[in-house]
Amino acid sequence: MDRVVVYPGSFDPMTNGHVEIVNRSRALFDRVHIGILRHPQKQPLFTVEERIEMIEEIYADTPEVTVLAFEGLLVDFAVSVGAQAIIRGLRAATDFEYELQMALMNRRLQDQIETLFMVPHEEFTFVSSSLVKEVFGLGGSIEGLVPELVEERMVAKMRA
Ligand code: PNS
Repeated sequence: MDRVVVYPGSFDPMTNGHVEIVNRSRALFDRVHIGILRHPQKQPLFTVEERIEMIEEIYADTPEVTVLAFEGLLVDFAVSVGAQAIIRGLRAATDFEYELQMALMNRRLQDQIETLFMVPHEEFTFVSSSLVKEVFGLGGSIEGLVPELVEERMVAKMRA
């Protein structure tokens, strides 16, 4: 049986911290499905379609990593792609309370799907999509914090 994991989030945009979690997950799972939540109420920088396109490009040579948008419950998405687990990155203790709450709720909803927490490399523990957007919007350098392709798309969006 293939070991399948779902890595959910907003990925607006994908950072090098996310990329690292995906790469570490690949060592443990046969297939990694990145799941982008369609937030009806959030005002994103990139549309879900733009985010899918960027992530597809990042993993163009990695067929075991795929990206899909999902709506509704994460556990339903996980079941629909045949995943046994959900991966979440834990950067700091401050992430933990919210993540634990979600993990327990998800277990209550779907007992057979495990939540696994993975710790990114120290150099990415301070990196978040929202901070990257803020720093970029204020003219700061985000070099090394996001894939080059993402930085290029952010520059293009700024100019548009
Ligand atoms: O990394 P993010 O952007 O904080 O991701 C949050 C996400 C997408 C994992 C979470 O909001 C989620 O799973 N939403 C789907 C709706 C759902 O299942 N809610 C109950 C979770 S306990």
